[in-house]
Amino acid sequence: MTTYRIAPSLLSADFTRLGEEVRNVIAAGADWIHFDVMDNHYVPNLTFGPMICQALKPHAKTTDGKAVPIDVHLMVQPVDALAAAFADAGADLISFHPDASTHVHRSVQAIKSKGCKAGVVFNPAETLDVLEWVIEDIDLILIMSVNPGFGGQGFIDSALRKIEQARKLIDASGKDIRLEVDGGVKVDNIRRVADAGADTFVAGSAIFGKPDYAAVIQAMREALKLG
Ligand code: DX5
Ligand code: ZN
Repeated sequence: MTTYRIAPSLLSADFTRLGEEVRNVIAAGADWIHFDVMDNHYVPNLTFGPMICQALKPHAKTTDGKAVPIDVHLMVQPVDALAAAFADAGADLISFHPDASTHVHRSVQAIKSKGCKAGVVFNPAETLDVLEWVIEDIDLILIMSVNPGFGGQGFIDSALRKIEQARKLIDASGKDIRLEVDGGVKVDNIRRVADAGADTFVAGSAIFGKPDYAAVIQAMREALKLG
């Protein structure tokens, strides 16, 4: 049985009250908190850094005190120094784009040596080739179903084929690797994304764009149940 994870993206949260947004979306059933780091260099947008992650860390827990993982998605170049800074700021998982790193294997090791789970991210027009050389070392594969940089974009359907490919590689590796999808995930397409092989779903505008976060997360879980 697949354990699905829903990871609301703070990119679409209300930035004037981020701590409260983290607490509210966890109370609404979020499994992970997805934290999008953009540098106005690798992507044409600028978001938040390690200090904000550190400030939010104490809020990333359930009302009974259970820690909720912070899933940092680095859209930055270069990778290693910021990855280390996010590890120190309380990140649990750190993913980066291989094309933003000169030495992909070293970046994976840099993240793991800090005690974090490491992920690699693939843009819509990128192939999965690099996985041949790092799949043994990673904990997460993140497939972009939009071009990185902004929330609220439409799902790019070719991502489904890439998710299928990634699922085959994970199954063949025999490793426990999460397959996460990011961009344009909504209640009405999450089932298709899961059928392609994804087990972890980032959703920004779909959740934070609605007044009742719990209703959206519940509807997503219902859609995942009906297979
Ligand atoms: C885009 C980010 C996403 C973004 C997704 O570059 O990586 O995490 O928040 O937003 P939605 O779910 O609105 O497409
Ligand atoms: Zn993201």
